[in-house]
Amino acid sequence: GRVLVLAGGLSPERDVSLRSGRRVLEALRGLDVDVEFGDLGTELMASLIADPPSVVLPVLYGNPGEDGTVREVLELVGVPYVGASVEACRLAFDKPLAKALLVKAGLGTPASVTLPREAFHDLGAAPLMSLILKRLGLPLFVKPRAGGSAFGVTQVRDADQLPAALMACFAYHDTALIERAVVGVEVAVGVVDLGEGPVAMPAVEIVPRRGIYDYAAHYSAGATQFFCPARLSERAEQAVARAALTAHRALGLRDLSRTDLIVDQDDQVYVLETAVAPGLTDTSTFAMGLAAKGYAFDRVWLQLARLAEA
Ligand code: DAL
Repeated sequence: GRVLVLAGGLSPERDVSLRSGRRVLEALRGLDVDVEFGDLGTELMASLIADPPSVVLPVLYGNPGEDGTVREVLELVGVPYVGASVEACRLAFDKPLAKALLVKAGLGTPASVTLPREAFHDLGAAPLMSLILKRLGLPLFVKPRAGGSAFGVTQVRDADQLPAALMACFAYHDTALIERAVVGVEVAVGVVDLGEGPVAMPAVEIVPRRGIYDYAAHYSAGATQFFCPARLSERAEQAVARAALTAHRALGLRDLSRTDLIVDQDDQVYVLETAVAPGLTDTSTFAMGLAAKGYAFDRVWLQLARLAEA
């Protein structure tokens, strides 16, 4: 039946979503699939109800889309979709909640403090900042509680950068996740389930040329060097694959996910986060992992669509 690639939306990641969605659209067109592209909006929802496709591929990032709300509408309409359930999206999209689930599953994640905007304003910056620094040390990352593509994320190397980093973060969310920056090799590990259980793709190592994996480093060609295979010991390569599979299961995910991790110099593995809707642009790691495993991008999407539709 007809496949709808659902992308766009009004989150800061709209452009990433459109680029990723078009890539899936072109891949499926190449296989002669009856596929159309939908840019998320109210009219699209109305047409979904009037003339439902047989399956939806959500390629949506940020809010709403990755938080489960759009999938909830799809469930109301009764259209099957590829990817995690509403409940799983809700948990996985919330970084502090997801971290708690990962820790419960025995995975390491960087030490962190969750700070609401009100605390920052009410207590005054200085005493609170020194408590946070005492707890976590430096360097740190300040991230919005939810959201992707590094929007609102700042690396803090000096104590006096912390208040500005928090203000930048609060532009995107009312809660900040302040995390210790673990020094080590950063990798992304894709997980795909083509009907026989989740399988981890080879790790893709991420080395941003300017040192920080910010928005430009994510999406500008040449701004980041990728290594696949990653420059990890065999033991660490296995450990990150196991961790990605454990994270996928612990968060109750379905069909696909991507887990971002750091391996420190002692081969300790820290999960940074797991994305329920991995980016699919030309510079996104998910497709690189598939290719390294010998999985064809177009066939994977066709298979995921057909499995969800069945
Ligand atoms: N949020 C972006 C699209 C990602 O995780 O790849």
